[in-house]
Amino acid sequence: MHKPSTIRPAAGRLAVLLPGLGAVATTAIAGVMLARRGLAEPVGSLTQMGTIRLGSRKHARQPKLNELVPLASMDDLVFGGWDIFTDDALQSARNADVLHPNHLELVADELCRIRPMAAVFDRAYVRRLDGENVKRGSTKADLVEQVQHDIRAFMKRNECTRAVAIWCGSTEVYLEPTAVHASIEAFEAGLEANDPQIASSQIYAWACIKEGVPFANGAPNLTVDFPAAWQLARERHVPVAGKDFKTGQTLMKTVIAPGLKARMLGVRGWFSTNILGNRDGAVLDDPGSFRTKEVSKLGSLETIFQPHLHPVLYGDVFHKVRIEYYPPRGDAKEGWDNIDLFGWLGYPMQLKVDFLCRDSILAAPIVLDLALFLDFAQRAGLRGIQEWLSFYFKSPMAARGLVPEHDLFIQLKKLKNTLRFLMGEELITHLGAEYYD
Ligand SMILES: NC(=O)c1ccc[n+]([C@@H]2O[C@H](COP(=O)([O-])OP(=O)(O)OC[C@H]3O[C@@H](n4cnc5c(N)ncnc54)[C@H](O)[C@@H]3O)[C@@H](O)[C@H]2O)c1
Repeated sequence: MHKPSTIRPAAGRLAVLLPGLGAVATTAIAGVMLARRGLAEPVGSLTQMGTIRLGSRKHARQPKLNELVPLASMDDLVFGGWDIFTDDALQSARNADVLHPNHLELVADELCRIRPMAAVFDRAYVRRLDGENVKRGSTKADLVEQVQHDIRAFMKRNECTRAVAIWCGSTEVYLEPTAVHASIEAFEAGLEANDPQIASSQIYAWACIKEGVPFANGAPNLTVDFPAAWQLARERHVPVAGKDFKTGQTLMKTVIAPGLKARMLGVRGWFSTNILGNRDGAVLDDPGSFRTKEVSKLGSLETIFQPHLHPVLYGDVFHKVRIEYYPPRGDAKEGWDNIDLFGWLGYPMQLKVDFLCRDSILAAPIVLDLALFLDFAQRAGLRGIQEWLSFYFKSPMAARGLVPEHDLFIQLKKLKNTLRFLMGEELITHLGAEYYD
């Protein structure tokens, strides 16, 4: 990363394009609309509420993050998206039943104007859904072109100077990178040949990168996390980030696990289960989609605990993750964790966490922050994988050969130091020796 000589200003309107206009997307959109009319607070959003310490502790410089960094204003965001259902954002938000009807009513006029563009969709990758608002294409390459056309037309229609995209679509079945994902040439050939390893979300991501549109992936799908996409993103000067919004249980996991490890407390087992009854839960009830989520959720503990360095404490952790589809709960998920830990001389203890959370309420501010940070990153000349945005993901993307960072507090330090670096401020190491000289 180079310090930018200039950062282009956030002039004009920013298109925020969301493949998947379901619970998360509509909660994010309605929230921004409410917040910019002064009708609600954007709680949980670092870009709107976070502060950043600058320079010496003696000078108490703690501006709001958006006072230091030239982010786009919420007033300049224009939302659009794709979905396999034709419901507009108001109807979709009503179906999702996350926000109260009286909250939605306040922005109903704006929400109902957001109508989903026809989706790239194939049931081979999301088996539990079927919808009518779907593009037809002779090849996957043709579908890429159709999405590129959608992006250009949306930006023209809405007079946008820039765009970003965030995948808020359903979780696709588990796929691993194969030969078709290895290079730009192989991927382009695979698009022409309708290679079955290229899922719908990859088609959106490819189209976005080709259009110069930064792309983040809120689900655990492969989508933009393979060598050809990294390479294309670097060539086209497009920032990309992923995967899988870090919201409820994994957020707590990456808070508690670093705490236990900091005190060198051992762990024998970590059992996580949760119930949820929204459409996401219905999709995850399919073993193919669950596998994708399971892999994403399992990764965090191993990298935080570093069992190879601490075999006595973490050499044999039994880590299990379950998700149960339970319709009565809707979006109001409940997640339970049972942690079997041990302390001094190996004496056992237990820790129980019962998080009665709301999935989309936790995910919505992440959508906003990612949109603003990705746009800023592009204006600052960053490209390819944006590891400093790991803070927002369960399964962070990192350069080839690097172990991703999962500890929430290290992720936050990295995010803030990246902003300090880009804005020409001193990095903060927390050494503090100067106060005692
Ligand atoms: N809510 C959270 O806390 C959270 C956390 C991490 C990840 N996620 C992920 O975010 C995604 C969205 O979650 P949600 O709760 O909004 O789910 P949702 O089911 O309410 O919304 C997903 C939408 O995507 C649409 N869709 C599916 N395939 C599509 C395609 N190919 N093109 C366009 N639209 C498509 C569906 O029709 C649906 O409307 C899921 O993948 C979920 O796993 C959510």
